[in-house]
Amino acid sequence: MERVELTVGLELSRIVYGMWRLGDDPDTSPKRVQAKMEACLEQGITSFDQADIYGGYTAEALLGAALRAAPHLRAQIEIVTKCDIVAPVGKYADRRVKYYDTSPAHIAASIDSSLSNMAIERIDLLLLHRPDPLMDHFETGRALDEAVASGKVRAVGVSNFRPHDWRLLQSAMDTRLATNQIEISLLRHDPMTNGDLAFLQELDVAPMAWSPLAGGALLSSGHNAMNAALREVAERDGVGPMAVALAWLLTHPACILPVVGTNTLDRIRRISDAFAVDMDRQTWFTLYTAALGHEVP
Ligand SMILES: NC(=O)c1ccc[n+]([C@@H]2O[C@H](COP(=O)([O-])OP(=O)(O)OC[C@H]3O[C@@H](n4cnc5c(N)ncnc54)[C@H](OP(=O)(O)O)[C@@H]3O)[C@@H](O)[C@H]2O)c1
Repeated sequence: MERVELTVGLELSRIVYGMWRLGDDPDTSPKRVQAKMEACLEQGITSFDQADIYGGYTAEALLGAALRAAPHLRAQIEIVTKCDIVAPVGKYADRRVKYYDTSPAHIAASIDSSLSNMAIERIDLLLLHRPDPLMDHFETGRALDEAVASGKVRAVGVSNFRPHDWRLLQSAMDTRLATNQIEISLLRHDPMTNGDLAFLQELDVAPMAWSPLAGGALLSSGHNAMNAALREVAERDGVGPMAVALAWLLTHPACILPVVGTNTLDRIRRISDAFAVDMDRQTWFTLYTAALGHEVP
Protein backbone atom coordinates (compact mmCIF):
# COMPACT_ATOMS: atom_id res chain seq x y z
CA MET A 1 0.00 0.00 0.00
CA GLU A 2 1.06 3.55 -0.77
CA ARG A 3 2.69 5.39 2.12
CA VAL A 4 2.44 9.09 2.78
CA GLU A 5 5.15 11.18 4.39
CA LEU A 6 3.20 13.55 6.63
CA THR A 7 6.29 15.26 7.90
CA VAL A 8 10.00 14.54 8.13
CA GLY A 9 10.37 11.22 9.92
CA LEU A 10 6.70 10.22 9.88
CA GLU A 11 5.05 8.10 7.20
CA LEU A 12 1.55 6.67 7.52
CA SER A 13 -0.15 4.10 5.35
CA ARG A 14 -2.52 5.71 2.84
CA ILE A 15 -5.47 4.12 4.65
CA VAL A 16 -5.56 4.22 8.44
CA TYR A 17 -7.55 1.96 10.78
CA GLY A 18 -9.62 3.86 13.37
CA MET A 19 -10.08 2.51 16.89
CA TRP A 20 -12.90 4.73 18.16
CA ARG A 21 -15.34 1.82 18.11
CA LEU A 22 -12.96 -0.79 19.53
CA GLY A 23 -14.95 -1.02 22.77
CA ASP A 24 -18.26 -1.47 20.88
CA ASP A 25 -17.10 -4.87 19.65
CA PRO A 26 -18.61 -7.59 21.87
CA ASP A 27 -15.11 -9.12 21.91
CA THR A 28 -12.49 -6.67 23.17
CA SER A 29 -9.90 -9.31 24.06
CA PRO A 30 -6.23 -8.74 23.14
CA LYS A 31 -6.54 -11.66 20.70
CA ARG A 32 -9.41 -10.03 18.86
CA VAL A 33 -7.69 -6.62 18.70
CA GLN A 34 -4.55 -8.35 17.46
CA ALA A 35 -6.56 -10.18 14.77
CA LYS A 36 -7.93 -6.86 13.50
CA MET A 37 -4.47 -5.32 13.47
CA GLU A 38 -3.04 -8.30 11.62
CA ALA A 39 -5.86 -8.11 9.05
CA CYS A 40 -4.79 -4.50 8.52
CA LEU A 41 -1.08 -5.28 8.35
CA GLU A 42 -1.67 -8.00 5.73
CA GLN A 43 -2.87 -5.21 3.41
CA GLY A 44 -0.17 -2.72 4.36
CA ILE A 45 -2.41 -0.72 6.70
CA THR A 46 0.15 0.05 9.39
CA SER A 47 -1.34 3.19 10.95
CA PHE A 48 -3.86 3.09 13.81
CA ASP A 49 -5.92 6.02 15.01
CA GLN A 50 -6.76 6.44 18.68
CA ALA A 51 -7.80 9.20 21.10
CA ASP A 52 -7.60 9.41 24.85
CA ILE A 53 -11.40 9.82 25.03
CA TYR A 54 -12.35 6.82 22.85
CA GLY A 55 -14.51 4.35 24.71
CA GLY A 56 -14.84 6.79 27.62
CA TYR A 57 -11.03 6.84 28.07
CA THR A 58 -10.74 3.04 27.72
CA ALA A 59 -9.89 2.31 24.05
CA GLU A 60 -6.19 3.14 24.31
CA ALA A 61 -5.84 0.52 27.04
CA LEU A 62 -7.48 -2.12 24.78
CA LEU A 63 -4.76 -1.43 22.23
CA GLY A 64 -2.18 -1.45 25.03
CA ALA A 65 -3.34 -4.90 26.19
CA ALA A 66 -3.01 -6.21 22.62
CA LEU A 67 0.50 -4.74 22.34
CA ARG A 68 1.52 -6.25 25.67
CA ALA A 69 0.30 -9.65 24.46
CA ALA A 70 1.98 -9.27 21.05
CA PRO A 71 4.87 -6.83 21.53
CA HIS A 72 6.32 -7.61 18.08
CA LEU A 73 3.48 -5.59 16.55
CA ARG A 74 4.76 -2.28 17.90
CA ALA A 75 7.67 -1.99 15.47
CA GLN A 76 5.36 -2.58 12.51
CA ILE A 77 2.83 0.17 13.22
CA GLU A 78 2.34 3.89 13.69
CA ILE A 79 0.04 5.10 16.46
CA VAL A 80 -1.94 8.32 16.22
CA THR A 81 -3.73 9.58 19.29
CA LYS A 82 -5.49 12.77 20.37
CA CYS A 83 -6.11 14.87 23.42
CA ASP A 84 -7.97 17.93 24.66
CA ILE A 85 -11.56 16.69 25.06
CA VAL A 86 -12.48 16.34 28.73
CA ALA A 87 -15.84 14.62 29.19
CA PRO A 88 -17.35 13.87 32.59
CA VAL A 89 -16.92 10.10 32.30
CA GLY A 90 -14.31 7.58 33.39
CA LYS A 91 -11.25 9.24 34.88
CA TYR A 92 -12.92 12.66 34.54
CA ALA A 93 -16.26 11.59 36.06
CA ASP A 94 -15.93 14.36 38.66
CA ARG A 95 -16.10 17.16 36.01
CA ARG A 96 -19.28 19.27 35.86
CA VAL A 97 -19.29 19.81 32.12
CA LYS A 98 -17.71 18.54 28.91
CA TYR A 99 -14.95 20.91 27.84
CA TYR A 100 -11.72 21.29 25.86
CA ASP A 101 -8.34 21.74 27.49
CA THR A 102 -5.32 22.76 25.39
CA SER A 103 -3.29 23.97 28.37
CA PRO A 104 0.34 22.77 28.55
CA ALA A 105 -0.37 20.92 31.81
CA HIS A 106 -3.28 19.01 30.30
CA ILE A 107 -1.38 18.17 27.10
CA ALA A 108 1.64 16.91 29.05
CA ALA A 109 -0.52 14.82 31.41
CA SER A 110 -2.50 13.39 28.45
CA ILE A 111 0.69 12.35 26.67
CA ASP A 112 1.96 10.51 29.74
CA SER A 113 -1.36 8.81 30.27
CA SER A 114 -1.64 7.76 26.59
CA LEU A 115 1.90 6.34 26.65
CA SER A 116 1.12 4.31 29.72
CA ASN A 117 -2.34 3.17 28.48
CA MET A 118 -0.93 1.93 25.20
CA ALA A 119 2.28 0.53 26.74
CA ILE A 120 4.45 2.45 24.29
CA GLU A 121 7.54 4.67 24.56
CA ARG A 122 6.50 7.20 21.96
CA ILE A 123 3.35 8.44 20.23
CA ASP A 124 3.94 8.66 16.47
CA LEU A 125 1.43 11.45 15.92
CA LEU A 126 -0.41 13.48 18.54
CA LEU A 127 -3.41 15.55 17.43
CA LEU A 128 -5.35 18.24 19.25
CA HIS A 129 -8.80 16.69 18.98
CA ARG A 130 -10.95 19.83 18.66
CA PRO A 131 -10.32 23.57 18.42
CA ASP A 132 -10.53 25.05 21.93
CA PRO A 133 -11.99 28.58 22.22
CA LEU A 134 -9.76 29.14 25.24
CA MET A 135 -6.57 28.03 23.46
CA ASP A 136 -3.66 30.37 24.16
CA HIS A 137 -1.80 29.65 20.91
CA PHE A 138 1.57 30.68 22.38
CA GLU A 139 1.25 28.31 25.34
CA THR A 140 -0.31 25.46 23.34
CA GLY A 141 2.18 25.86 20.49
CA ARG A 142 5.07 25.75 22.95
CA ALA A 143 3.61 22.67 24.66
CA LEU A 144 3.40 20.85 21.32
CA ASP A 145 6.94 21.89 20.35
CA GLU A 146 8.15 20.64 23.74
CA ALA A 147 6.29 17.35 23.32
CA VAL A 148 8.25 16.71 20.11
CA ALA A 149 11.53 17.89 21.67
CA SER A 150 11.01 15.56 24.65
CA GLY A 151 10.91 12.56 22.31
CA LYS A 152 7.55 11.41 23.70
CA VAL A 153 5.86 12.38 20.45
CA ARG A 154 7.28 12.10 16.91
CA ALA A 155 4.96 14.59 15.23
CA VAL A 156 2.00 16.79 16.08
CA GLY A 157 -1.11 17.88 14.23
CA VAL A 158 -4.72 18.87 14.73
CA SER A 159 -8.22 17.63 14.14
CA ASN A 160 -11.44 19.43 13.23
CA PHE A 161 -9.52 22.70 12.75
CA ARG A 162 -10.61 25.32 10.22
CA PRO A 163 -7.86 27.16 8.30
CA HIS A 164 -7.94 30.12 10.72
CA ASP A 165 -7.49 27.81 13.72
CA TRP A 166 -4.55 26.14 11.95
CA ARG A 167 -2.88 29.43 11.06
CA LEU A 168 -3.18 30.76 14.59
CA LEU A 169 -1.61 27.72 16.23
CA GLN A 170 1.05 27.23 13.55
CA SER A 171 2.09 30.88 13.88
CA ALA A 172 3.29 30.19 17.42
CA MET A 173 5.14 26.93 16.70
CA ASP A 174 8.55 25.86 15.44
CA THR A 175 7.35 22.36 14.53
CA ARG A 176 5.33 22.03 11.36
CA LEU A 177 1.81 20.70 11.97
CA ALA A 178 1.66 17.34 10.19
CA THR A 179 -2.03 16.94 9.37
CA ASN A 180 -5.59 18.00 10.05
CA GLN A 181 -8.01 15.12 10.66
CA ILE A 182 -11.45 16.23 9.51
CA GLU A 183 -14.75 14.60 8.64
CA ILE A 184 -14.95 13.88 4.91
CA SER A 185 -17.20 11.41 3.10
CA LEU A 186 -19.78 11.26 0.34
CA LEU A 187 -22.25 12.51 2.95
CA ARG A 188 -19.86 15.21 4.31
CA HIS A 189 -18.17 16.60 1.23
CA ASP A 190 -18.27 20.29 2.17
CA PRO A 191 -14.46 20.38 2.85
CA MET A 192 -14.07 19.97 -0.92
CA THR A 193 -15.79 23.28 -1.57
CA ASN A 194 -15.51 25.35 1.64
CA GLY A 195 -11.75 25.93 1.43
CA ASP A 196 -10.70 23.40 4.09
CA LEU A 197 -9.04 21.01 1.62
CA ALA A 198 -7.77 23.78 -0.67
CA PHE A 199 -6.00 25.34 2.33
CA LEU A 200 -4.21 22.07 3.13
CA GLN A 201 -3.36 21.46 -0.54
CA GLU A 202 -1.73 24.86 -0.72
CA LEU A 203 0.40 23.92 2.30
CA ASP A 204 1.12 20.44 0.86
CA VAL A 205 -0.38 18.85 3.98
CA ALA A 206 -2.19 15.52 3.56
CA PRO A 207 -5.48 15.47 5.50
CA MET A 208 -6.91 12.48 7.35
CA ALA A 209 -10.63 11.81 6.81
CA TRP A 210 -12.63 10.55 9.79
CA SER A 211 -15.88 8.61 9.30
CA PRO A 212 -15.14 8.09 5.58
CA LEU A 213 -18.18 5.79 5.37
CA ALA A 214 -20.23 8.36 7.31
CA GLY A 215 -20.15 5.98 10.27
CA GLY A 216 -21.85 3.30 8.12
CA ALA A 217 -24.77 5.57 7.09
CA LEU A 218 -23.45 5.64 3.52
CA LEU A 219 -23.87 1.90 3.25
CA SER A 220 -27.11 1.43 5.14
CA SER A 221 -30.50 1.46 3.46
CA GLY A 222 -31.40 5.02 4.49
CA HIS A 223 -29.63 6.61 1.51
CA ASN A 224 -31.17 4.76 -1.42
CA ALA A 225 -29.82 6.82 -4.34
CA MET A 226 -26.33 6.90 -2.85
CA ASN A 227 -26.49 3.20 -2.15
CA ALA A 228 -27.61 2.34 -5.65
CA ALA A 229 -24.82 4.48 -7.17
CA LEU A 230 -22.17 2.84 -4.95
CA ARG A 231 -23.47 -0.65 -5.74
CA GLU A 232 -23.47 -0.05 -9.47
CA VAL A 233 -19.79 0.90 -9.47
CA ALA A 234 -19.02 -1.92 -7.01
CA GLU A 235 -20.59 -4.52 -9.29
CA ARG A 236 -18.81 -3.11 -12.32
CA ASP A 237 -15.40 -3.44 -10.61
CA GLY A 238 -16.05 -6.63 -8.63
CA VAL A 239 -15.65 -5.05 -5.18
CA GLY A 240 -18.00 -4.04 -2.35
CA PRO A 241 -19.61 -0.60 -1.94
CA MET A 242 -17.26 0.26 0.95
CA ALA A 243 -14.30 0.09 -1.45
CA VAL A 244 -16.06 2.46 -3.84
CA ALA A 245 -16.82 5.00 -1.10
CA LEU A 246 -13.16 4.94 -0.05
CA ALA A 247 -11.91 5.16 -3.65
CA TRP A 248 -14.01 8.30 -4.07
CA LEU A 249 -11.91 9.96 -1.33
CA LEU A 250 -8.59 8.48 -2.51
CA THR A 251 -9.13 10.00 -5.97
CA HIS A 252 -9.25 13.58 -4.69
CA PRO A 253 -5.90 15.29 -5.34
CA ALA A 254 -5.56 16.44 -1.71
CA CYS A 255 -4.06 13.00 -0.83
CA ILE A 256 -6.76 12.20 1.72
CA LEU A 257 -5.97 9.41 4.22
CA PRO A 258 -9.30 7.76 5.08
CA VAL A 259 -9.57 6.49 8.68
CA VAL A 260 -11.84 3.44 8.48
CA GLY A 261 -13.62 2.27 11.64
CA THR A 262 -15.30 -1.06 10.95
CA ASN A 263 -15.08 -3.73 13.66
CA THR A 264 -16.00 -6.52 11.24
CA LEU A 265 -13.02 -8.69 10.27
CA ASP A 266 -14.43 -9.49 6.83
CA ARG A 267 -14.86 -5.79 6.11
CA ILE A 268 -11.38 -4.96 7.44
CA ARG A 269 -9.91 -7.56 5.06
CA ARG A 270 -11.56 -5.83 2.10
CA ILE A 271 -10.52 -2.25 2.86
CA SER A 272 -7.70 -2.25 0.31
CA ASP A 273 -10.13 -3.25 -2.48
CA ALA A 274 -10.51 0.53 -2.66
CA PHE A 275 -7.38 0.58 -4.81
CA ALA A 276 -9.01 -1.73 -7.38
CA VAL A 277 -11.79 0.71 -8.24
CA ASP A 278 -11.56 2.49 -11.57
CA MET A 279 -12.61 5.94 -10.38
CA ASP A 280 -12.52 7.85 -13.65
CA ARG A 281 -13.86 11.41 -13.70
CA GLN A 282 -17.39 10.43 -14.79
CA THR A 283 -17.65 7.73 -12.13
CA TRP A 284 -16.47 10.24 -9.50
CA PHE A 285 -19.09 12.76 -10.63
CA THR A 286 -21.82 10.11 -10.79
CA LEU A 287 -21.26 9.50 -7.06
CA TYR A 288 -20.97 13.23 -6.33
CA THR A 289 -24.26 13.80 -8.16
CA ALA A 290 -25.92 11.12 -6.03
CA ALA A 291 -24.47 12.77 -2.91
CA LEU A 292 -25.71 16.23 -3.94
CA GLY A 293 -29.10 14.91 -4.98
CA HIS A 294 -28.88 16.83 -8.26
CA GLU A 295 -26.46 17.30 -11.13
CA VAL A 296 -23.70 19.86 -10.73
CA PRO A 297 -24.71 23.29 -12.05
N1 LIG B 1 -11.03 13.30 14.82
C1 LIG B 1 -12.28 13.15 15.15
O1 LIG B 1 -12.95 14.05 15.67
C2 LIG B 1 -12.92 11.83 14.88
C3 LIG B 1 -14.32 11.66 15.02
C4 LIG B 1 -14.86 10.42 14.72
C5 LIG B 1 -14.06 9.37 14.31
N2 LIG B 1 -12.71 9.56 14.20
C6 LIG B 1 -11.81 8.48 13.73
O2 LIG B 1 -12.31 7.97 12.52
C7 LIG B 1 -12.44 6.57 12.64
C8 LIG B 1 -13.52 6.10 11.75
O3 LIG B 1 -14.78 6.61 12.19
P1 LIG B 1 -16.08 5.77 11.98
O4 LIG B 1 -15.97 4.48 12.72
O5 LIG B 1 -17.26 6.61 12.19
O6 LIG B 1 -15.86 5.45 10.41
P2 LIG B 1 -16.53 4.77 9.24
O7 LIG B 1 -15.51 3.87 8.66
O8 LIG B 1 -17.17 5.85 8.40
O9 LIG B 1 -17.73 3.92 9.83
C9 LIG B 1 -17.54 2.71 10.49
C10 LIG B 1 -18.89 2.18 10.84
O10 LIG B 1 -19.54 1.84 9.60
C11 LIG B 1 -20.14 0.58 9.78
N3 LIG B 1 -20.21 -0.09 8.48
C12 LIG B 1 -19.19 -0.41 7.66
N4 LIG B 1 -19.65 -1.03 6.56
C13 LIG B 1 -20.98 -1.14 6.71
C14 LIG B 1 -22.02 -1.69 5.91
N5 LIG B 1 -21.76 -2.27 4.73
N6 LIG B 1 -23.28 -1.59 6.36
C15 LIG B 1 -23.53 -1.01 7.54
N7 LIG B 1 -22.58 -0.47 8.36
C16 LIG B 1 -21.33 -0.54 7.94
C17 LIG B 1 -19.23 -0.16 10.72
O11 LIG B 1 -19.96 -1.19 11.33
P3 LIG B 1 -19.22 -2.57 11.73
O12 LIG B 1 -18.23 -2.24 12.76
O13 LIG B 1 -20.37 -3.38 12.25
O14 LIG B 1 -18.62 -3.13 10.48
C18 LIG B 1 -18.85 0.93 11.70
O15 LIG B 1 -19.81 1.07 12.72
C19 LIG B 1 -12.66 6.33 14.12
O16 LIG B 1 -12.35 5.00 14.51
C20 LIG B 1 -11.72 7.32 14.71
O17 LIG B 1 -10.42 6.77 14.71
C21 LIG B 1 -12.14 10.76 14.48
